[in-house]
Parts: sequence; C-alpha cells; structure tokens
Amino acid sequence: MNHQHSKLTVDFAGLGIPPGSYALPAPGAYDGYDRLERHFTGDLALTDLPPDDVQFLRNHFCEQVTEHRQQAMDYFSDRVPRRFAEARPDERATAWAEQFAGDRFTTKSLLLLGATGTGKTHLAYSVLRAVAETGVQTRWQTFTAADLYAHLRPRDGQDSQDAFTRVADAALLFLDDLGAAKFTEWTEEITYRLINHRYERCLPGIFTSNVPPAQLRDVLGERVTSRLSEMCDRIAIKGDDRRKGGAK
Ligand SMILES: Nc1ncnc2c1ncn2[C@@H]1O[C@H](COP(=O)(O)OP(=O)(O)OP(=O)(O)O)[C@@H](O)[C@H]1O
Ligand SMILES: [Mg+2]
Repeated sequence: MNHQHSKLTVDFAGLGIPPGSYALPAPGAYDGYDRLERHFTGDLALTDLPPDDVQFLRNHFCEQVTEHRQQAMDYFSDRVPRRFAEARPDERATAWAEQFAGDRFTTKSLLLLGATGTGKTHLAYSVLRAVAETGVQTRWQTFTAADLYAHLRPRDGQDSQDAFTRVADAALLFLDDLGAAKFTEWTEEITYRLINHRYERCLPGIFTSNVPPAQLRDVLGERVTSRLSEMCDRIAIKGDDRRKGGAK
C-alpha cells in the first residue's frame, strides 16, 4: 500500500477497497476534508466519520480501482498470446492473484508440473489474467525458457547484463517450459543466476515444466531445483494431452 505521505493510513478494508496503491483525495476536493485528514492521520476511525464522508471516500477510491483494473486488463490483453486469451481463472488462480495483490513478497511462486498438453501454459495465463483482474499494476514478463536463453545469449561482445537484470527484476515472471530446451553449461548457469536472483529478493514467478518431478534435479541441476522447491507451491496437472482431444 502506497500513499502520498508514508505516515497516512486509510481503512481500505473498512471501505471494501482491495489492496493497491491509491492517491488520496486532494485537500480542496471535499468540504469535510479536515475530518478525512483526521482519519488519514489515525485520529478518527472510519466508523466515526459521517456516512457522507465514508461515501465520498469509497467513491474516490472505487474510481481508481476501476481505472487500475482497466489499465491492468489492457496490459494483459496486449501481451497474452491469442491461444490463451480466453483462459479463465479458476479458484486457485484467483486465490493466488489475490494473495499476490495483497503482498507480492510473501506470495510463493507457482511451479506447474505436468505432461505435454495438460494445460500448464493455459493455467499460467489464467493466473496472469486473475492478477490483472485484481487491478494491481504489475509489469509482468513472460518467456519460454528457450526464448529467454536466445534473448540473453551474448552477441558479438555485447553484454547482456542489462537484459538479464530487466528479466530478473520483473515484478512477476512467467517462465514457461523449464527444462525443455537443451541444457548446456551456459543455460544451467544463466538459469541458476536468474532463479537465485529472484530467490534472494523474494520475487514471485510462475514456472512450468513437463519434466517428471523425479527427474527435475537431473535436468535443472541441484541448485536450481533446491531453490525452486523452497520458493514454489507445486501444482501437479494430471490428465491426457488436451491437444489430441482437440484433433479428434
Ligand atoms: N482448463 C482448460 N480449459 C480449456 N482448454 C484448455 C484448458 N487447459 C488447457 N487447454 C487447452 O489445451 C491445449 C494445451 O494446453 P497448454 O498449451 O496449456 O498445455 P501445456 O501443458 O502447456 O503443454 P506443453 O507442455 O506442451 O507446453 C491448449 O489449446 C489449451 O488452450
Ligand atoms: Mg506449455
């Protein structure tokens, strides 16, 4: 929760406003601003304000919720691949997104494991949609592991450190198909650096892999797998390859 002044607080829960970063009303925006200010400084509880004041505050923040949600949905719609544009969040996706919106640093990452075509990428995009639906402003990034390695591979002496940092510091990173690209010493090292960077900073991510759980250590290496185990809640996705069903 961010305010224009760090000491000011607003009873957002009492107003029914979801967690987020909001601008306070300007002093001239309301006749009873003095009372509102006493609420912001902790002198006056929300329940001690006249109903008109509470209504004014609720409207003031509701407008921003709507605006933020629209911006977040636009960000999502601009980036979601067409195939997953209709992926709708289920309860787990919504619950995760709400936790992320409340406090992203205590939200565990997700590790979605399952065979080819079981719906890992679909679920991951539904989580990103759910995040957008909360209205929280998150500049998430997404790569398949193979694309990320191509993106970060040094070219003609060109340092890829900036590119690395931009990905590694993303507020939310969706890294798809871990362990699917051919692993080399370089990919192992860059995967380790990336995961470790986010591990140390408690930055959440969504990771998917179709490597069977028992083989993760062999494929991703001990250090990456160990960190992922601590960082992530695992979701095992069972079932058949949905693509075969579609092709019948
Ligand atoms: N819950 C779902 N409802 C409807 N369609 C789904 C669902 N989950 C997945 N699909 C569809 O099934 C197909 C395969 O899903 P997806 O690409 O997410 O699989 P995957 O597990 O990521 O596979 P891979 O390991 O090969 O990347 C896609 O067309 C996707 O839209
Ligand atoms: Mg996939």
